[in-house]
Amino acid sequence: TYVVTENCIKCKYQDCVEVCPVDAFYEGENFLVINPDECIDCGVCEPECPAEAIFPDSDPKSADWANLNREYAGQWPNITKKGDAPADADEWKGKPGKAALLSS
Ligand code: F3S
Repeated sequence: TYVVTENCIKCKYQDCVEVCPVDAFYEGENFLVINPDECIDCGVCEPECPAEAIFPDSDPKSADWANLNREYAGQWPNITKKGDAPADADEWKGKPGKAALLSS
């Protein structure tokens, strides 16, 4: 499965949503997650993310985030269409230390 990680927080570009063939993304206030039970491991979302936030679960960068994706996928609404990214998304792109800013 693929996992959304810290780089997505406050960027939320949603290009990933557009390409997902199984609509496996779920939407929080400033972050998206992938439902691991729905992800078919196709990998098309990974290169689409401008913030480089998506990694396969085999990647060490996914380690702290896989459980969180599963947990919030069960709580947040499904998202199937790309909306507008936050107005200040580019300012947050690549910034470290965003984990504490995740809105649940
Ligand atoms: Fe987030 Fe990247 Fe998707 S910033 S909403 S994982 S395109």
